[in-house]
Amino acid sequence: MKVIFHGHACFTVESGNKKVIIDPFLSGNPLAKKKPEEVEVDAILVTHGHGDHLGDTLAIAQRTGAVVIAPNELAVYCQNKGAKAHPMHIGGAYEFDFGKVKLTPAWHGSAVINGEEIIYTGNPCGFLLTMDGKTLYHAGDTGLFGDMELIGRLHNIDIALLPIGDNFVMGIDDAVEAVKMLKPKRVVPMHYNTFDVIKQDPDIFAKKVADLGFTCNILKVEEELVF
Ligand code: NI
Ligand code: MN
Repeated sequence: MKVIFHGHACFTVESGNKKVIIDPFLSGNPLAKKKPEEVEVDAILVTHGHGDHLGDTLAIAQRTGAVVIAPNELAVYCQNKGAKAHPMHIGGAYEFDFGKVKLTPAWHGSAVINGEEIIYTGNPCGFLLTMDGKTLYHAGDTGLFGDMELIGRLHNIDIALLPIGDNFVMGIDDAVEAVKMLKPKRVVPMHYNTFDVIKQDPDIFAKKVADLGFTCNILKVEEELVF
């Protein structure tokens, strides 16, 4: 499995000749170098409707025909905008041709906000993505929750992508608690330093994770991790 970080909560995940992107916030993302027009994927996984996650989903889906995989209400929203979509919901898994996707809970909100208009798009989610026997957990935007223990017990997580930015999501100490419950083989912090309000030092997180005996990889934008 190859994981490429595009900044914020956006990652490309590749295995064999299959490729998916998660939360493609690129054109509005001050950290991103990748252009939405360069994205070629089999599927787009979207955790929730906020602009820093839905991002360029519609443009990529319309251009490439990639299927949007998201919680039902958000998938239907994308379908109504001309995207091909596969609605799912929390707790459900589905075997796609690129791999298996299971939706996990996330404690957050989900809406598309255009000025004064707020379109609610159901519950937010996280994703367990299994490709060729390797399992990735993208927590989405979430606070800490105890059922991460269950996620860790039921799934052999090869890599966990965890938000550490605080304010909207887990901060560093809560994300360290998440690692204890998930017991992943490696951890990558996300959702920090994109904006001032989520400024964090990822080295502090990495040290706390290492002190627990887990591996933490801080990825630079466009850096790849192969395992
Ligand atoms: Ni959000
Ligand atoms: Mn966010």
